[in-house]
Amino acid sequence: MFKKTLKKILPHHIFEFLRIEKKKIVQRKQLKKAYLYDMERYIKYSDTLGSDTDQKLIGRIIREYHVVEKGLTMPETRLGFGKDLIFSLIQNCIDYIQQYGETDEQLKHAIRVVLEYERFHQEQGFALDSVVQTAINNLKQKADEARYCQQKEMNIDSYFQHINASFPLFAASRSSVRNYSDKDIPTTTIIQALELARTTPSACNRQCWRTYVIENKEQTNLILAIQGGNRGFGHLTNKLIVLTAELGVFTSTGERNEAFIDGGMYAMNLLYGLHYNAIAACILNCSNTIEKDLKLRELCRIKDSEVFIAMISCGIPPENFKVAASLRYEADKTNKLIIE
Ligand SMILES: Cc1cc2nc3c(=O)[nH]c(=O)nc-3n(C[C@H](O)[C@H](O)[C@H](O)COP(=O)(O)O)c2cc1C
Repeated sequence: MFKKTLKKILPHHIFEFLRIEKKKIVQRKQLKKAYLYDMERYIKYSDTLGSDTDQKLIGRIIREYHVVEKGLTMPETRLGFGKDLIFSLIQNCIDYIQQYGETDEQLKHAIRVVLEYERFHQEQGFALDSVVQTAINNLKQKADEARYCQQKEMNIDSYFQHINASFPLFAASRSSVRNYSDKDIPTTTIIQALELARTTPSACNRQCWRTYVIENKEQTNLILAIQGGNRGFGHLTNKLIVLTAELGVFTSTGERNEAFIDGGMYAMNLLYGLHYNAIAACILNCSNTIEKDLKLRELCRIKDSEVFIAMISCGIPPENFKVAASLRYEADKTNKLIIE
């Protein structure tokens, strides 16, 4: 009624202006509500405020053992690395065993990684810090698992041997590679990989992904110093790909995460595109705090309308290198098949 009266008495352009402004207010309210809804779920179910469930604790354990795996596969492993981390990992494994038992595959793998860490240092004739050694001995007493893990040894030919093979062989042959020689990747090869990634499906075909290929060493180093997840290998990066997604192509509450979904799919496809072109790569997180996001925006010179998805460090691997074991769960742990 009120709307009809306004429509009659107001000039058309003013009425339209008010109608659009009102719509904006409603959309803004809905978005705020949706983000709060997401936030509450994240606060409650993520590990941010404490590990009070098996999922939170195992997530923490995987995060920690993965850093140890990375340390063991670095171009130059620093003896005695990650003292505090290995100590925390052991404590978390013991906590997990005491609360939930020792059946989880990832927990067993974590214990094997700790034992590999010990064995690696024994082989190098390096005496571990007494606190760490005592913690390892304690874990050995509490855990049944007694095998040690072995990170994967590769050579360049074996690593790329399946790039023209069937998809199951091809997909299984890709790993995150964190070791690169000083050989240059031709820009044309990167372009070929980007060309393959264009086949990525996207919501209503909006193709939100944007890529920035950075070749300048100085700029790469500045960006990677802030990214932070590339210690020990980032400096060897030959080309850095920064992936972003354009928000402008999305709309309304329902699509608030679409940039990350479509951008993530593109990222995976690009990793395959790089592997197919015999480029070794490691995808790097853009799990940025606000401060980090702002600094990276400036350094990467991305548009304000874009959000970071990830970065990919690329290079040609050396003759011999190691990759992290990165054990996957058995399929029945992550796949719930609903068969009527
Ligand atoms: C979104 C995302 C962010 C990642 N960030 C990093 C990172 O910052 N540093 C790193 O070394 N690896 C990073 N990785 C690589 C993972 O550690 C790796 O994919 C995982 O352990 C599985 O191993 P794989 O890639 O060899 O199969 C990231 C992976 C993804 C998907």
